[in-house]
Order: sequence, then C-alpha cells, then structure tokens
Amino acid sequence: MRGDVDTIKERLDITEVVSGYIKLEKAGQSYKARCPFHNEKTASFFVSPARQSFYCFGCGAKGDIFSFIEEVEGLDFRGALKLLAEKAGVEIEYGRSESKTEKDKILNVLEAATTFFEKELEGSKAARKYIASRGITAETAKNWRIGYAPAEWRLLYQYLGSVGYDRALILKAGLIKSPLDPARGKEPYDVFRDRVVFPLADANGHIIAFSGRALAKETEPKYLNSPDTILFTKSEVLYGLDKAKEDIRRKNYAVLVEGQMDLVLSHQAGVRNSVASSGTAFTRAHLERLRHLSSRIILAFDGDPAGEKASEKASELGIAMGFEVKVAGLPAGLDPAEVAKKDPEKWKDILRHSLPAVEFFFNRAEEREKDPRKLGKEIEKRILPMVKLIGSAIEQSHFISMIAKRTGIKEEVLWEDLKKVPRADVSQRSDLGDSKRPDLDSSEVESISQREQIEERLAEIKLWQKELPESRPEFVLLRREESELTHNLATVSLREDLGRLRAELSRAEASKEDKLVESLTREIQEVHNRMRVVEENKKIL
Ligand code: UTP
Ligand code: MN
Repeated sequence: MRGDVDTIKERLDITEVVSGYIKLEKAGQSYKARCPFHNEKTASFFVSPARQSFYCFGCGAKGDIFSFIEEVEGLDFRGALKLLAEKAGVEIEYGRSESKTEKDKILNVLEAATTFFEKELEGSKAARKYIASRGITAETAKNWRIGYAPAEWRLLYQYLGSVGYDRALILKAGLIKSPLDPARGKEPYDVFRDRVVFPLADANGHIIAFSGRALAKETEPKYLNSPDTILFTKSEVLYGLDKAKEDIRRKNYAVLVEGQMDLVLSHQAGVRNSVASSGTAFTRAHLERLRHLSSRIILAFDGDPAGEKASEKASELGIAMGFEVKVAGLPAGLDPAEVAKKDPEKWKDILRHSLPAVEFFFNRAEEREKDPRKLGKEIEKRILPMVKLIGSAIEQSHFISMIAKRTGIKEEVLWEDLKKVPRADVSQRSDLGDSKRPDLDSSEVESISQREQIEERLAEIKLWQKELPESRPEFVLLRREESELTHNLATVSLREDLGRLRAELSRAEASKEDKLVESLTREIQEVHNRMRVVEENKKIL
C-alpha cells in the first residue's frame, strides 16, 4: 500500500486535485482560495505546488492530497486512497483483510436499523417522553438520530429479514444474538429491547454500532452496547467524533465526557467539541484518535469519587502521551448531563474554569488533607508521579514551583523527591479499558515538547514565506507569528535551562559540593536576568 501511495502522489498534482472542488487563484508561487473547511469571506486557504501541500491560515487545516480528500469527501484513509487511485489510474493491492463489500453490507444493515429505530421512536410516546425528561429536544434527538428499540424480542430481526438482509449478516452487525440455550428455541433475538438507542458513528458519520439506555429503571445493565464487530471496537470508538472533529480542530481542544447523555446534552448546550467514550474508560486508542486534531483535552467526568478516580487515570494517560490535560470540576453528585440540562451557561462556565490536571488534583489533595505532613505524603504519592509523566522540564518546573509556593516545601526537596519517583508505566496498565490492540511500549510514546512544536511551526513559516509575495496580508501575519514564536522559543529555552540548573543545584546541595553550588547559583541568577530581558523585549514588541 505504501508503494501505491507514493505512485499516486507522483501522478497527481495537488492543485489539480483541489481545483476539482474549489476555484484556485494564483498567489505568488502558491495558489489560494476560500477555505472549504470553514466559513470565511476572504481567501486564507493556500496550496503549495512545490511542496504538494495545503494550509489554511484561518482554521489551521493542513495536509496533502490524501488528507484533503478525506476531509472534503468525508472519507477515511482507505476511501481517499480508493478515490485517488482511480483518478491516478493506479490499481491498489488490498491486504488480506475482510472484503470491502462485506463491510459495506454490514454498514447497510446498521443504517437500516438506525432508520427503523428512528421510526419506532416517533411511534412511542413513552420513549419520547423519557428523552424529553432528560432535557433532549426533539431537534437534538433528530440530529443525533436517537431512536427506540421496542420491548419485543424479534421486531428488528423480523423487519430486517423482511427487507432482505440475511441472518448471518444481521448477526455480524451485532444486532441479534443466538440463544445460548438451544432448548429454548433456535431463533435469534434482538440485542436491543425497550431501550432508547444512540447510534455510534465512525469519524465519517457511518453508523457502526449502538448504545441503548434502558427505559425501565430496574433493567440491568443500564446501558447496553453492541458487541465488538469487524466495524466496531468499543474501547476505541469516540461517540460524537464525526460531529465534533471540526470544532476540536478549530478550538484546538476537545472536551471528554463519559456518557451518551453527557455528550448529547453538551453538544446541545453549544459545546460542540465534545466527545465521549462508550462504556469503557478512556484508552490510548481513544486518545490516538484525538491526537491529530488537537493536543489539548479537558476531562469532564462525574462529580463523584468514581469520576475523580477515572479522571486521575485518564489524566496520567493523557499526560504520558504528551497531551496538555485539564480537568473540569463538576459539582458534587452531578454529571455533565445534569449540569448542561439545567443550565447550559453553567456547563460552559465549569469548562472555562477547568485547571491543569496537576493543579486540579493538588487542590483536591489540599482540600482533603489539612495536616501538612499528610498533605506532603499525598503529594509524594499522587501529585509527583503525575508531574513525573510530563514530557517537558519547563512544564515540570512550573508545577514544582507552584507546589513549593503553596506548601512551603523547598523546591530543591521536591526536585529530589521527583527524581526518586518511578515513572509510572501508564501504557502497560491493564485497567485502562480493554483495547484489543496491544499497547505501545512507553518508549514509543512520542511526547512532542513545546519546543519541538514551535520549531516545527517556524520551519513551516519559513517555507511559506518563500512562496508568498511580500505584498500579501498573510505575509504580514506570518511575520508577526514568526516574531512571537521566536520570542516564545527564547522563553522556552531559558525555562528549560532553569529546570536543568535547578535539578543540578539540588543534586550538588545534597552532595555538599559547595563550589558547584556557588557556580550553579550564579548561573541560575544569570538565566533569571536573561528571562527578564526577554520579557522586557516582549513588552516593546
Ligand atoms: P453512568 O452510570 O454515569 O451513566 O455511566 P449516566 O451516563 O449518568 O447515565 P444516565 O444519566 O443515568 O442515563 C456512564 C457511561 O458508562 C456507560 C455508558 O456509556 C454511560 O453513559 N455504561 C454505564 C455502560 O456501558 N453500561 C452501564 O451499565 C452503565
Ligand atoms: Mn453519569
């Protein structure tokens, strides 16, 4: 497949591909247009024939012909590959995976089931009443294609049969089950009965599974998910991703909630960059999916001990994967659904007041432990291990300073302790969902540091500057961004130096190397001075 991708790239020109969708205008060595991925009046979408890539200064969308086709056509990579291969006249060799047609057939059954459930909802007053009682409007229900599976054993099975789907296929789609006990009859029966059903879509909006909420209070389980199928892996799917992806990219962060109700009501409240896991804790696979949209997440779990525990684990995983993780504090005993239903503005407010994970859990520890010695223990046991997972020394030093300031514990002591804390191997943890995929080794976890991000963007700016005529307004924008980034890079470097020097200092102090202590102290002073100069320059800029 690798070879196919390269051949296609050789044969097709990006300006030609993009021109098939939008009108391009020449701008220096590049071409520009109004961005197809966000609403805009002026053209800020640029295509570079030299680098065969595109970049939008408005929304940040970027990539090559494949990512362009994926976005514009709403296809996954395979879909884009197929489309572009045809265009380029390249025959692609598929692996030995399941045949494409079988997947398509299953998607068709699931689509038929979705429509069936939608119709049944229209016919069920009780189900509609339940949905309304949860604060979901009719419009939202329609938008999310929420449906109802009636309290019958084989209604869906019979319906699907009557429109021509065979039993094997319906079984593969995870919609029916064969009876365990053949003595009770051989007929399969519907998985979802007397439940409000939330269709779960893949990133392109194709329904791949369902999650059903029991209508009756006493029914167990409260939520029932489709079994894993060739299309659906429970521990990987992000509910709402198809609708949230654009907003996540635009706002450059994602809001993570744990339940279907939480998710739908969060979107209804206007927080359209929310996604949810579905019946499992957040896993590495979930976060991998988000990574290419944004590296920032806000965790908004239930305001109870279980929710706090879950967000602690998700924080550790996210931080270890290089995400900037914030945690939203829900009022005790409430979940996002209840808050968003009662007061959408309150929900947004809670998200606005989310705090960096380390700070959030430090606050919690501080509220709980009034005795300074116990708080110290708690910091050692729970807070420092989290700090340890942070990839960048600068970020670490920020939190070490904060903890020192608020506890009176010397920074040097905290650094010493931090050194002793073993780096938790989050990736190997068995309690993080039941991902089918073997977890990556932690050494493969690339946590892009802030410095690397800045450097990457600066390099990109250099390339665009070469191609755009200086008279273009984007050129001025790039200049401004470049000078800001250069300034940030200077600050980042200095803070890295500071972190390193402080660690060395505490080591030197511990081993009583007086000379070294003296010279390190001087160096630290020097770095502080340089930081002040940089700050002054920023004010002038
Ligand atoms: P909760 O128990 O917090 O449910 O589980 P909830 O979202 O508040 O549900 P409501 O508001 O009572 O309707 C959170 C999520 O865990 C999964 C579901 O995805 C649920 O939304 N879950 C929960 C299950 O998969 N099975 C269950 O039996 C319960
Ligand atoms: Mn809940």
